[in-house]
Amino acid sequence: MENEQRIRRIGLLTGGGDAPGLNAVIRAVTLTAILQEEWEVVGIRRGFEGLLHDNPHVVALTQKRVEGLLPRGGTVLGAASHNNPRLFEPSENGPIVSKWAKAQVRRQLDALAIDALVIIGGDGTMTMGQQFFEAGIPLVGVPKTIDNDLLVTELTFGFDSALDQATDALDRLHTTAESHDRVMVMEVMGRNSGWIALHAGVAGSADVILIPELPFTLAAIGAKIREQRDAGRLYSIVVVAEGATPAEGDQLYREFGDERSLGGIGHWLAAQLAESLGVATRAVVLGHLQRGGSPSAFDRNLATMFGASAVRLIAKRKFGYMTALQCGDIVSVPIIDAIGEQKKVSLESKLVHTAEGLGISFGI
Ligand code: F6P
Repeated sequence: MENEQRIRRIGLLTGGGDAPGLNAVIRAVTLTAILQEEWEVVGIRRGFEGLLHDNPHVVALTQKRVEGLLPRGGTVLGAASHNNPRLFEPSENGPIVSKWAKAQVRRQLDALAIDALVIIGGDGTMTMGQQFFEAGIPLVGVPKTIDNDLLVTELTFGFDSALDQATDALDRLHTTAESHDRVMVMEVMGRNSGWIALHAGVAGSADVILIPELPFTLAAIGAKIREQRDAGRLYSIVVVAEGATPAEGDQLYREFGDERSLGGIGHWLAAQLAESLGVATRAVVLGHLQRGGSPSAFDRNLATMFGASAVRLIAKRKFGYMTALQCGDIVSVPIIDAIGEQKKVSLESKLVHTAEGLGISFGI
């Protein structure tokens, strides 16, 4: 599509793992495109995969179709985990989007008379999006992930909702831990970043927070728990990020057929602490409860602003850009700046220092 050509119809897809707020973006893009720009909107099912079939898997998005979507969890368009072998081909630097997929997506967009795409996703989707963009597909991005690990945006939608779930779970663990004088270890998601663990740990009054950015030692955790017991506090709450590692050890994974995900550190740690300290421990893995369900009010609004902003980016032909939150403002940044590495917890951040000041141990 030439830049000056009038836009009449846009496509919309969601990629990667689901996150609360995806449907809120779908609704916001649809309503803003229809009401403000008088464009039509086509939803593409299961990410870029929906465009790889001979008969593309798409659905017309109308005002009626997006009614009731704001509070609904998951994504009504479906989210693929991007392991379709037709989508990728090997290269020296790992898999890249295949030539065939680029040509097929181009063909299908032309056939569907889609002038531009909104892609909603995390770093996997944005990395693919950048490659499609470089191949000439006009698209803009909306950042999503409960992990909050996407560079150049202070927040992604989904994070706040996940945080609420994790904090609520910690509140519940306090009372049962206290009743039984136990050490409760709660494992949270977050991949290689400790955002969920850190924020939930402080909000949920954990005694120990373990994040991937700071490899921990059992000795340091044991010292904290002993210190508490010596002071008469007979229970402890430990939050461990799924990607956290012992100083001398590796990340743990769980296998699901030929797929695998980070996980297992919570049970491992609870067993180690029981053995080394001789105290009663239990592990809880919060898992996909952090991803499912209705988005928080904050995430609904962030997702809605991101969705509306994505439509404005298309109207301005700012293809290859992604909406982002910076200093409380909705801005746009080149997608290429958001990919390649993940956003990590800064050890100099206010929350880390505040936690240390409160006596929370990071297991170091
Ligand atoms: O990126 C979101 C996330 O929930 C991570 O926190 C977690 O490691 C991963 O996805 C789990 O993926 P899956 O649902 O494929 O097991």
